[in-house]
Amino acid sequence: MAQRKRYLFVCVNSRPDGTPKGSCAARGAVAVHTALKEQLKARGLAGLEARACTASCLDTCWVGPSIAVEPDHYFYGRVTLADVPEIVEALARGERVERLVLKPEDYIEPRELKKQA
Ligand code: FES
Repeated sequence: MAQRKRYLFVCVNSRPDGTPKGSCAARGAVAVHTALKEQLKARGLAGLEARACTASCLDTCWVGPSIAVEPDHYFYGRVTLADVPEIVEALARGERVERLVLKPEDYIEPRELKKQA
């Protein structure tokens, strides 16, 4: 297999129910990863353009499901199944879905923000 232009690391980390941070798995990340793989393949992008991989915690749990896009080095957050077609089409154009790209403040855990206030 050739090296793809991009790798999308989908956090599928799971934590026990009731954990304050929650987890991407609890917010539907496993289905997002599966749909991403399927739709990249269906769109003809899986061979050379992009590969969807599973990842453990990316440390942005509070805005999960989280996806790290490399080598572009940006993160998507709050991704739902409904967002997957838009992500795939953006990849086909070499673009990103700006509304899903995490902003600098999204990387700060909410409890840390409260401490700073
Ligand atoms: S559980 Fe997915 S980023 Fe932490």
